[in-house]
Amino acid sequence: MRIGTVVGMTDTGGIDFQRVTTPEQYTGFQECASIGFQHRLENAEAWTEAILADLENLDHRVAVDGGRTVGTFLSFDQELTAVGGARVPVRAVSAVTVLPTHRRRGILGRHMRECLATAVENGAAAATLIAAEHAIYGRYGFGQSTEVVDYRITVDRARLPRPPVDEVRYVSGEEYLEAANLMREVLTFPGRVSRLDVNGRKAAGVLGPDTGDKQRLVLRRGGEVAGVLSYTVAGKWSDARPDSTVTVTELLGVDAAAERDLWAFAMSIDWVTSVVAAQRALDDVVTTVPADPRTVQVSNRMDYLWIRPFDVPALFSARRYAAPGRLVLDVTDPGFDDAGPGPAHGRFAITTDGGAGECVRTDEPADLAVGLADLGRLWLYDEPVSRRVALGDIRELADGAAARADLMLFSPRRPWTVEMF
Ligand SMILES: CC(C)(COP(=O)(O)OP(=O)(O)OC[C@H]1O[C@@H](n2cnc3c(N)ncnc32)[C@H](O)[C@@H]1OP(=O)(O)O)[C@@H](O)C(=O)NCCC(=O)NCCS
Repeated sequence: MRIGTVVGMTDTGGIDFQRVTTPEQYTGFQECASIGFQHRLENAEAWTEAILADLENLDHRVAVDGGRTVGTFLSFDQELTAVGGARVPVRAVSAVTVLPTHRRRGILGRHMRECLATAVENGAAAATLIAAEHAIYGRYGFGQSTEVVDYRITVDRARLPRPPVDEVRYVSGEEYLEAANLMREVLTFPGRVSRLDVNGRKAAGVLGPDTGDKQRLVLRRGGEVAGVLSYTVAGKWSDARPDSTVTVTELLGVDAAAERDLWAFAMSIDWVTSVVAAQRALDDVVTTVPADPRTVQVSNRMDYLWIRPFDVPALFSARRYAAPGRLVLDVTDPGFDDAGPGPAHGRFAITTDGGAGECVRTDEPADLAVGLADLGRLWLYDEPVSRRVALGDIRELADGAAARADLMLFSPRRPWTVEMF
């Protein structure tokens, strides 16, 4: 397998590639990343302290030119939830930047190839990332695998389900964090990834001083945590009447009813005329909450999680199936830089019975031919296989294979990634 070969397509000569092990290197990492992302880190001192304490797990890489950090790259172990709730070990990629002075010289490519080769060696089933732009990561075998949308609700308070005022309470950051972490233990919808501890603490306002104005609530049912809601409010008056907007920053429920109730709560707050929420699931229950569904507007539909599969048997053996059957996939994995077939290349037989499935390499004739870019999406069942076949993206090699794949792979929930990383 030549996946591990580091072949620079472009000249990165003179640039020193290092793993971050010192506070000075991390300062360089942050300076470069804040130029690349055009955004300065909030609460930088507490964040830096948390990162430096965990450099063993958070593999920060830098490209240094003449003493100046010109490129950054972070990777770490993550768990990705399969259809049915099992979690598979993957390698997450994040904080990818290259200074505008050093772009298109192969710095990202060098970081990425090294990271992916190591992840394969270490047994990751796939690599994951959230792409800033659609065009960047396909060349490394990543394919768009989940999507998100933004919602804006024009509140009609007279026609809402009753909010769960007896079951929901405003809580401290610490209590919120505990409940939010607990929620992440019980949620089973596909496409979710585990959250870095530092991101959880930041979101709960307990990483250093809480300078934000977020409100945090926990929903309890029979004493057990059943949901969490956090939001900010932009207070406003228009024509002598209240006209505030609530921005939901997190809303998670153990089931659809809990989610509906938390939405109803957010919409029920006095003075609020609009509720907005970004990067939510495509099948979010919010569209069912107001009596008039036209009061919910959907916008900014976009790709979210990108998956680069490595270990096809591990991925397809981990998920659950909606129907018994057998399916042989022919997967084309060109590897990197045309260096030869990658780790996901080959033919794989999936046999399912009673919800469980087993996936092994095979020489049998294939039912469906799938490119690497479509594999993550197919695994998470983000859309029907028959539609991809109709579009020519997936090829049906045996009659009826697409219909059979749809029955077997079906997931009652659209995948949703929840976390930004
Ligand atoms: C995206 C970014 C990291 C690319 O770094 P880079 O070192 O210039 O990338 P490389 O030189 O290794 O590029 C490898 C290939 O990807 C292509 N590529 C890189 N960035 C691209 C982009 N934004 N759009 C389209 N293609 C891109 C390059 O053209 C090159 O292709 P080629 O080999 O066919 O010429 C850099 O431009 C950057 O920091 N952008 C701002 C922050 C950002 O978007 N980060 C990504 C966060 S997910």
